[in-house]
Amino acid sequence: MLAADDPSSNKDTPKSRYRTRIPVSEQRPGDPKKGYRYLVEGDYIVSGIPIDLFTMARPAGKNQLKRKGDQAALAYHYTAVTAPNGVRVVTSNCLRCHAQTLNGKFIIGLGNSIVDFSADRTSTVDMVDKMILAMHGADSPQRQAYKTLHDRFLLVSPLIQTRVRGVNPADNLAFVLGRHRNPLTLEWIENPPAIKENKKQTVIPTDVPALWLLKKKNALYYTGSGRGDFARLMMASSLLTLKDSSEAVEIDKKFADVHAYLLTLQAPSWPDNINTALAQQGEQIFAEECVRCHGKHGPQADYPNYMIKLNTIKTDAMLSDWQRSVDSHTYANSWFGKGPHAARLEPGDGYIAPPLDGIWATAPYLHNGSVPDLLTLLNSKLRPKFWQRSFNTSDYNFKTVGWNYQKRASGGDSKIYDTTLPGYGNQGHDFADELSDQERTALIEYLKTL
Ligand code: HEC
Ligand code: HEC
Repeated sequence: MLAADDPSSNKDTPKSRYRTRIPVSEQRPGDPKKGYRYLVEGDYIVSGIPIDLFTMARPAGKNQLKRKGDQAALAYHYTAVTAPNGVRVVTSNCLRCHAQTLNGKFIIGLGNSIVDFSADRTSTVDMVDKMILAMHGADSPQRQAYKTLHDRFLLVSPLIQTRVRGVNPADNLAFVLGRHRNPLTLEWIENPPAIKENKKQTVIPTDVPALWLLKKKNALYYTGSGRGDFARLMMASSLLTLKDSSEAVEIDKKFADVHAYLLTLQAPSWPDNINTALAQQGEQIFAEECVRCHGKHGPQADYPNYMIKLNTIKTDAMLSDWQRSVDSHTYANSWFGKGPHAARLEPGDGYIAPPLDGIWATAPYLHNGSVPDLLTLLNSKLRPKFWQRSFNTSDYNFKTVGWNYQKRASGGDSKIYDTTLPGYGNQGHDFADELSDQERTALIEYLKTL
């Protein structure tokens, strides 16, 4: 029984087999200032849309990052880089998925739950190619500088389509790109061997974890599978356009700086008043009901890094099951698993209990973003089966703490989150169901302070 467990114990006694403590992995030091510059200006993806065409077709962005030169005209999630043949191109950067505006405030590290991966982008990709052709000609260096991204997008786009808007297919993207690489030289393979049916293209929807939590974590990803060198794990994004392992070595060095920068990110603080007495009552409830998995927060913070087994957490199993079916052995024997800063994939049978700093800002909740707000996360019976939000970044509810939404009678539209789809389930994590409404209100008041 969970109740028999001693929440203050740091040891995993036989009684506490529902959770496993994730050990620390040593990380490379890096320079956070250089890391930030590389994150928002670096050339980890070296193919894109020629900048002349890009700036002609799109109005100038807001320059949220206050970048200079030709970057100044771009919205935060784009970077101008020089392609290997010397052409200046625009490509997406990490902030496409790892930053978002919330109630008018731009927050780096907040997972983007607005972006729409539910559409097939093939026709857009081809249309851009036609525009480059018309503007610069068929054999132009500009067209050449777009070609890698064009070809790779055509390949991956149909394989990473989510069923609803607001969830992310990054795990599938990494999987597809990994399969098209020679494990050791990382050279592109046009026709990789066929894969077994069960590993095939089920697109697993996930939310995007807030990056300010990284400094507390001993493992990356919802399943806690990312072990060893974090910088190496996160440079997988460059697999999109990377030439080979010699280029990977150069990018890898710079990602130690990116990692150092990510460690400096802070959780955004609650923008409104707090009822202190109520929050204190909530803190007591949190200590009794939640600390044994999520750890202590605030000045005496102690984050225990627990992975919680599926049979206890009971949330949607698909991500965990899928990651365990994907071959970690191949990764271990690849370029990523070699050398002094090796990374490993060790997916466990469950999900990590994340730190809850800045939790008020990171709706929707659970690893698949299936629950719209804290109120329903803490009362599983109230969770909507089909729900729709406006995807307007100011449409946030400060009472229920999460997105405003409307219940729907059925799904079938990508704007409606459909929890009956495989991988999209909203079950489990029912640990607060027995609380009274008053206790739940107190608990939410406390969570706002984290
Ligand atoms: C297409 C969207 C997308 C892009 C682009 C992207 N990420 Fe992510 N990232 C994700 C998702 C989704 C996860 C969570 C995956 C999971 O846990 O299964 C994630 C996880 C992470 C994590 C682990 C966080 C944690 O707490 O577990 C780090 C660190 C990270 N990304 C850094 C980066 C960096 C650096 C880049 C750019 C090189 C990048 N990401 C590009 C979507 C993206
Ligand atoms: C038995 C361990 C356990 C207990 C007890 C527990 N949690 Fe969790 N919690 C988890 C795990 C594991 C997850 C991630 C589940 C997933 O994403 O599928 C989670 C997720 C969450 C999330 C969503 C995080 C996100 O980013 O989406 C919140 C909020 C949360 N828990 C709050 C609480 C509160 C408040 C309590 C006390 C009433 C509590 N939890 C009790 C293990 C636990």
